[in-house]
Amino acid sequence: METLDVEPEIQQSAPNRRRFSEYAPLLLSYRLNQLWPPLVCVAHDERAITIDGHRKILLSGSIHYPRSTSQMWPDLIKKAKEGGLDAIETYVFWNVHEPQRRQYDFTGNLDIVRFIKTIQQEGLYSVVRIGPYVCAEWNYGGFPVWLHNMPGIEFRTANNVYMNEMQNFTTLIVDMLRKEKLFASQGGPIILAQIENEYGNVMSSYGDAGKAYINWCANMADSLHIGVPWLMCQQTDAPQPMIETCNGFYCDSYTPKNPTSPKMWTENWTGWFKSWGGKDPYRTTEDLAYSVARFFQRGGTFQNYYMYHGGTNFGRTAGGPYITTSYDYNAPLDEYGNLNQPKWGHLKQLHSVLKSMEKTLTYGNISTLDFGSSVAATIYATDEASSCFLGNANETSDATINFQDADYVIPAWSVSILPDCKTVAFNTAKVNTQTSVMIKKPNEANSSILEWMWRPEFTHDTIVRGKGQIVANRIVDQKEMASDASDYLWYMTSVNLGKDDAMWSNNMTLRVHGSGQILHSYVNGKYIGSQWAKYNIFNHVFEKEVKLSPGHNKIVILSATVGLQNYGPMFDLTQAGVPGPVEIVGHKGDETIIKDLSSNKWSYKIGLNGLDNQLFNPDCKRVKWSMDNVPVNRNLTWYKASFKAPLGTDPVVVDLLGLGKGEAWINGHSIGRYWPSFIADEQGCSDAVCDYRGSYNGDKCVSNCGQPTQRYYHVPRSFLNEDVNTIVLFEEFGGNPSQVDFQPVVVGSACATVSEGNTVELSCHGRPISGVRFASLGNPQGVCGAFEKTSCDSDKDVVSIVEDQCVGKESCSFKVSQDVFGSPNCFDAPINRLAVEVSC
Ligand code: GAL
Repeated sequence: METLDVEPEIQQSAPNRRRFSEYAPLLLSYRLNQLWPPLVCVAHDERAITIDGHRKILLSGSIHYPRSTSQMWPDLIKKAKEGGLDAIETYVFWNVHEPQRRQYDFTGNLDIVRFIKTIQQEGLYSVVRIGPYVCAEWNYGGFPVWLHNMPGIEFRTANNVYMNEMQNFTTLIVDMLRKEKLFASQGGPIILAQIENEYGNVMSSYGDAGKAYINWCANMADSLHIGVPWLMCQQTDAPQPMIETCNGFYCDSYTPKNPTSPKMWTENWTGWFKSWGGKDPYRTTEDLAYSVARFFQRGGTFQNYYMYHGGTNFGRTAGGPYITTSYDYNAPLDEYGNLNQPKWGHLKQLHSVLKSMEKTLTYGNISTLDFGSSVAATIYATDEASSCFLGNANETSDATINFQDADYVIPAWSVSILPDCKTVAFNTAKVNTQTSVMIKKPNEANSSILEWMWRPEFTHDTIVRGKGQIVANRIVDQKEMASDASDYLWYMTSVNLGKDDAMWSNNMTLRVHGSGQILHSYVNGKYIGSQWAKYNIFNHVFEKEVKLSPGHNKIVILSATVGLQNYGPMFDLTQAGVPGPVEIVGHKGDETIIKDLSSNKWSYKIGLNGLDNQLFNPDCKRVKWSMDNVPVNRNLTWYKASFKAPLGTDPVVVDLLGLGKGEAWINGHSIGRYWPSFIADEQGCSDAVCDYRGSYNGDKCVSNCGQPTQRYYHVPRSFLNEDVNTIVLFEEFGGNPSQVDFQPVVVGSACATVSEGNTVELSCHGRPISGVRFASLGNPQGVCGAFEKTSCDSDKDVVSIVEDQCVGKESCSFKVSQDVFGSPNCFDAPINRLAVEVSC
């Protein structure tokens, strides 16, 4: 037996032993890795998310990377940081990344790794909601339509086909982010991830299988070992270790069911989305700030704005049915990336006050004093300091309270924040930030109107001959037949009438049971009518008188989807196209005769010939365009023109007033569906100034009644060339392109209303202030653009004083004081408030 002259365990590992000089570089690189980028430990306790053991107040905002361009990302993220955010949240959009099964796309504005690295470069955290069901007013809620067509699949339930695909995609994304070291546990910016989305809202419809599914989701996510916590939103009592969170316009009264979950709000809806036929949503700055302040008053520690920048549904990404191309959302950054003022600035002030109280809010003891009538004070106290909130949830009455030996007036539906429990640093209803009025300027680069060329969509094969690429002896749902390769699907059949049928062939109708989206019908080569949803009323039955003759009659239906359903229990089964039956209805005397064509031989054609021939692609020279007799109000027509881009770097929109409905491309990039002929409902707007008090919902304070739902369409600067550009339109309904115009969007004027002792800050965002339209110290009335003086007005020439301070500068800032602006002559009601409007 050999004697051991070394420790047994060392001897065991001896074959792999290296000398120090061999492993020193490894150790060094490990240590360097540990230092840069620093590995961060993200966890949570019942109070807050903790970062390296410290409880945090986290302010986050949603920016969805495919809803802008990669060129826009750095500016958007920078503005979010300047606005006081700590983190940027995004969903991950499965259907654009995996458009065909196992074929992936992460290029251009789908480059999620680049997006998250851009966030990292700004020094912000990131929250990645993988879903991969996302809702989000995104086509089919983010699911690829090929998934629907997999045999045996059932979505969002305990179904192996579905779960395999979901796991495959989720793992792919996690691995991709891990490989780039993007999780905080690896030194990256991602501090939180989400699996599924609001499943709790629909879970009961899936019965026990739903419960099994959500447990599986939790286990699957957990098994990916990302090293940061996972979230499940709207999932009461989420399976551990998932953290449940709240979504809504208000989440102050939400309490997580699991006592170890902190109070987190993943979606504070900053406005609302828009549907075709809908009006412009508007959530006031005061109410949004109120919802945030109340959430933190009542123990919240993480809050995310949905959306911080809404952006644009380019191409065919809009969900549905009927979500508009603009996803502006009335968010703090507008669709084009401009500051939406005063929302952005007022929240910025709120964020800085909340952050100054981080310690007391996350470690302090919480006590509440109830003053009755929905008025309450909340005190957060540590041994060293205390911070207070005074909240008034009353919708009509201001409150005056005595708190800790001082009197405070709290306006109705507002929260005052006192970081030291003495001085009010912020009140949600007192907006000092400027209001910016955005305008579209004429395009100085295009001296004359555009010269249009045109081509008809070639329809001989469909409308005349009724011949497609696929034949079936049944009516097929559009998702199944076309797998969402296009909005358009042609359904074609023929009906043979014998001599006997002549008895009832007069006075016949074609009856099509549709899915509520758009249908155009043609009989024997002639257009007979169309139908589409109006104002959320989805007509499912189209019926129109037709003339048929003995022998073969061709029946052609062109279906056009406008975004596939994205929300609801089993939303994925919502039918698209023509579910049928399709019938010919006639009368023989008193008798009604119905000829059901549903099991006829149907021929299908997916898409349009113009799309197949890439008419939208300016490099495609194969096809001829005509400059002669450019038609107006002709349906299924292609238009094309060259134009010069507006000079400068301001965001650009194209005004499509005069067009009907279709899709638009700029230099081959789809800027989305357009539908300016869809006029927003006349009803529901009011001329009165919107009252921020009281609960908000998407129908409150809307505007744009009786106007095109969406007239202007975003043309990102990166889609434009400096010299010649091409616009191509596919016009489905018929319209007139002669008014089409490209315009830069800029700040037209800026207003502020600020009381004495406070500071006015005005900015034209990169352009000089050109004049002062209004300025009055006293008791000015009205709103930006329509201010009015009252008899209570200063004795000095306030306009000249502001002119001296501001004109010619990009921004100016001054304190409102009677020394400078004079004394208002209003002894009865001494109010010293300056209202000012400057032009840019
Ligand atoms: C939520 C959903 C989001 C978005 C939002 C409305 O229910 O989670 O994805 O659809 O509603 O904008």
